[in-house]
Amino acid sequence: MDAKAIRQMFPILDQEVNGHPLVYLDSSATSQKPIPVIEAVDEYYRKNNSNVHRGVHTLGSRATDQYEGAREKVRRFINASSTAEVIFTRGTTTAINTVATSYARANLKPGDEIVITQMEHHSNIIPWQQAAKATGATLKFIPLQDDGSITLDDAKETITSNTKVVAIAHVSNVLGTIHPIKELAKIAHENGAVILVDGAQGAPHIRVDVQDMDCDFYAFSGHKMCAPTGIGVLYGKKELLENMEPIEFGGEMIDFVNLYDSTWKELPWKFEGGTPIIAGAVGLGAAIDFLNEIGMDNIHEHEKKLSKYVMERIRTIDGVNVYGPENRASLVTFNLDDVHPHDVATALDSFGIAVRAGHHCCQPLMKWLDVAATARASFYMYNTEEDVDQLVDGLLKTKEFFGNVF
Ligand SMILES: Cc1ncc(COP(=O)(O)O)c(C=O)c1O
Repeated sequence: MDAKAIRQMFPILDQEVNGHPLVYLDSSATSQKPIPVIEAVDEYYRKNNSNVHRGVHTLGSRATDQYEGAREKVRRFINASSTAEVIFTRGTTTAINTVATSYARANLKPGDEIVITQMEHHSNIIPWQQAAKATGATLKFIPLQDDGSITLDDAKETITSNTKVVAIAHVSNVLGTIHPIKELAKIAHENGAVILVDGAQGAPHIRVDVQDMDCDFYAFSGHKMCAPTGIGVLYGKKELLENMEPIEFGGEMIDFVNLYDSTWKELPWKFEGGTPIIAGAVGLGAAIDFLNEIGMDNIHEHEKKLSKYVMERIRTIDGVNVYGPENRASLVTFNLDDVHPHDVATALDSFGIAVRAGHHCCQPLMKWLDVAATARASFYMYNTEEDVDQLVDGLLKTKEFFGNVF
């Protein structure tokens, strides 16, 4: 299926915004949803809605089968060895917080180190700041190269025998950098540390094999990969999860409750306190079927071509500064000389082009780039070269407009 055919599967894209056909270039913030996902959620609510696990009636069994079926689809999608290793969460943020609260607080002490980078999303910085404060551990940063990438030599310098946790994005949501996770996992393990991968921008675009990467934890959000908002995944190696305490307590996650003490269900349910995000999981299962049908390798290839094309085209515009390495995921973060990125995004919106402007939840990275904010255009399987052409035309018109104003 080519991008134009794929696009037909996303009804939201077929509309005009401000009198122009919509060009959606904000998939890193959240992706659009294809018909099979919309229909799966619709059908779940029309036919199968019920609470899971406890019900003996038919709807209860159907809902449970769909919910647990989605878990098995996730397991296969990331090649986890067991569904015990697949915990449903609200998204990447909740998944990282679970590890930074449960694992880190039980295993870290003063003198230990947590290694991250300055390009992390706030969701992969603040939980570790909090864990460091709570345990007396120290936060350390692998230095960034001029283009915002990291080197394995620097990683080897920064990760030491004092390091207990390495937490790093699979793909940067601002620079598009794709990190060498397998090599970083090896360095972490050689030093006796665990590695958590923030896969929010990885899982939607690149085939993920957690066993091959040998990561200890991998966190991602459904809404960036065609599924509804409110559902995400924490993958963790069974032996680690088994020794971790839940961070949410209540219904669904218990085995026995006594007056003064209680015991927990086995994995993965001990981490899923309360009524779970059932419709979200059903939607995620449908999204995974959809991604598999298109093929993760095809998606990655398409996006590689698009990213090369956007880099070639955007550089032809005078006064555009592009941030990040040459070899990147399918997003481009940039500023236009003398025009605030919010003005760029507002002007582009008037042409029906949706891009994001701001700090992209990466204030420490903005500081490193020495800018307050940037504009970002991000692509997915449904974007085409024509979308890139529209972006470039829109930027030229924006430049002309602001050039005339000032
Ligand atoms: C790299 C990265 N990490 C974490 C997150 C947080 O994801 P969520 O808000 O879905 O929890 C995002 C969202 O943009 C992201 O891009």
